[in-house]
Amino acid sequence: MSAPRACVIGWPVRHSRSPMIHGYWLKQYGIAGSYEHAEVPPEGFADFVRGFGREGFVGGNVTIPHKEAGFALVDEADGDAAALGAVNTLWLEDGRLFGANTDGIGFLANLDQGAPDWEGDRGTAVVLGAGGASRAVVRALASRGFGRIAVVNRTADKAEAVAALAGPAGRACGYDELWRWLQSAQVLVNATSLGMVGKGKLDVHLGELPEDAVVNDLVYVPLETGLLAQARAHGNRVVDGLGMLLHQAVPGFERWFGTRPEVTEELRALVAADIEG
Ligand code: ATR
Repeated sequence: MSAPRACVIGWPVRHSRSPMIHGYWLKQYGIAGSYEHAEVPPEGFADFVRGFGREGFVGGNVTIPHKEAGFALVDEADGDAAALGAVNTLWLEDGRLFGANTDGIGFLANLDQGAPDWEGDRGTAVVLGAGGASRAVVRALASRGFGRIAVVNRTADKAEAVAALAGPAGRACGYDELWRWLQSAQVLVNATSLGMVGKGKLDVHLGELPEDAVVNDLVYVPLETGLLAQARAHGNRVVDGLGMLLHQAVPGFERWFGTRPEVTEELRALVAADIEG
């Protein structure tokens, strides 16, 4: 049998650090396999995935703009993918195509590792933004039993739709009400694209946030965002977004190559150097 192949499918996809992460693990565990970039336009996505078996692919990651199209193609989806209507991980099993969304797993594992008692008494969590990343984060926070999950967004109807994913714990509001939610927050998450290199600045004030709250930015380019710098100066513990990228990759690697990989400091430093380079 030839060495198993996996890939990250996106359009564009050159920026993806997934080949660096999986390549590190393949080498680390001495596994004869490969992980490649696959730059596939939307009109070619379905054919590319249907050709997995023929081309020796055991699966792959799916990134922008294919996450919803990937969900539509799978024979079976895990609970997170079904709830979010989007996949980031695909694998073949007995000729059937399986899909998962591991963003929530990655988000929680990053906080568990970066700030072990981040949940406090699971009272209030505040999430900025109501896009795809926010949906995964809100579901993950609900799975840990937070009593109130406030989704703060510029566009109100999107905030309401995402807050609904948290069931009775969900609340939706605009940035004018953020200060009030911050007063009782145990955790604040930036799930907007603001603060990323090339995007606008995230303009929030953390004055009301308790000092024992944890601040997590999903943005990881740059690693030290304006929000994290402000939170540090305010006395809060901070967790950057890189760990979510690393941890969301774990379940896919395990499916494709049969070994559960570890998110080590060495791996983190390797990817961090690439981001900062
Ligand atoms: P992703 O899938 O990565 O989460 P997305 O779906 O494009 O990305 O969502 C981006 C989020 O950043 C949205 O919540 C968006 O707010 P709107 O729903 O109001 O568009 C938020 N965002 C982007 N630019 C923003 C800005 N200038 N001010 C406030 N929020 C912004």
